[in-house]
Amino acid sequence: MARINDNYLKLQAGYLFPEISRRVSEFTGANPDARVIRLGIGDVTRPLVPAVVKAFHEGVDEMARSETFHGYGPEQGYDWLAQVIIDKAYKPLGVELKTSEVFISDGSKCDSANILDIFDLSNKVAIGDPVYPVYNDTNVMVGRSGEANEQGYYEGIVYMPCTEENGFMPQFPEEKVDIIYLCFPNNPTGAVATREQLKGWVDYALANDAVLLFDAAYEAFITEPGIPHSIYEIEGAKKCAIEFRSFSKTAGFTGVRCGLTVVPEELTGTTASGERYSLNKLWNRRQCTKFNGVSYPVQKAAAAVYSDEGWAQVQEVIAYYMENARIIREGLTAAGIRCYGGVNAPYIWLKTPEGMSSWDFFDKLLAECHVVGTPGSGFGPSGEGYFRLSAFGERENVETAVSRIRDKWGK
Ligand code: MLT
Repeated sequence: MARINDNYLKLQAGYLFPEISRRVSEFTGANPDARVIRLGIGDVTRPLVPAVVKAFHEGVDEMARSETFHGYGPEQGYDWLAQVIIDKAYKPLGVELKTSEVFISDGSKCDSANILDIFDLSNKVAIGDPVYPVYNDTNVMVGRSGEANEQGYYEGIVYMPCTEENGFMPQFPEEKVDIIYLCFPNNPTGAVATREQLKGWVDYALANDAVLLFDAAYEAFITEPGIPHSIYEIEGAKKCAIEFRSFSKTAGFTGVRCGLTVVPEELTGTTASGERYSLNKLWNRRQCTKFNGVSYPVQKAAAAVYSDEGWAQVQEVIAYYMENARIIREGLTAAGIRCYGGVNAPYIWLKTPEGMSSWDFFDKLLAECHVVGTPGSGFGPSGEGYFRLSAFGERENVETAVSRIRDKWGK
């Protein structure tokens, strides 16, 4: 008899975004004429930029000829893509990396989940609250937690509340932890960490022999100068941090799939017998066994993001989304709705009207304005009373959504 992984049964209901889709389908089924605007899941709407499309086509054409055909690529990704990323995305920040430290993958969601393979279950993990649900749920799935309590906190996981009072910044955990997830610019709150705040985390990790799992999926949306784009801009971070990056939001690859994880060679953990061991070696071993790399045309397309032409085109798309963010933030703020984020991040984190729960607001917004957002409580108990709107929509839809919300909820 095959026993199931009972840890899955500890998870609450379904994953957040499929649950939203279910409610939206129910609504559209009952109201087929409603023009529903989707600003829920952070999925991009602009097409791939021309330079990327061209490289993608070229990659496919190469696959069509025996002289240029590619079979399995390196599990870690092609060196030429890792090198472009190092030269164009890290060197300008003053960060030196080797290609052996950059692992190309099919996205940050998978990597931030799969990374748990290389850590022992005994590690104490700290996550933000609210948080990108993947960090919480994957730790529950592997058995690092007990059951959830009434509030929704899982026994054994350390939560760092990110609230209005602390500027949505996680505070250092009171108890000793071994692995800390950080996400800046933050999903869902849109908060960004200053150099000083990140230095605090690096110093904390070094002092406590902890590893930081730094999710930088939204770094391309930082508009203000002086805000770090990478944890490795902080001295000492290579000794304590793994960084995840994604082409999904940066270059519209949500349906293409490409991301990367940086595991510095200096980064170590301890074995059961107390010796230091390279996490880079472990991740390499893990990828070689469980992953066969990203397709050749996709890696060609990803490299084109960093060509001069591609980068200029991608910047225009990012500016388009950030203008959406401004329209949402300023439009709703003018209507008396308290909004956060949306300056260095494509998410606006707003306070629900007095006394209204996140899911009640979701249902009302859908029923009365035909606008879909994401209930803050879906990201954790401290997200209750908040609501997330994504700036990744089409401009006209964003403007219509803002005016509908203002008409209904504006003061
Ligand atoms: C989100 O809406 O939070 C993101 O789209 C989820 C993801 O990137 O997996």
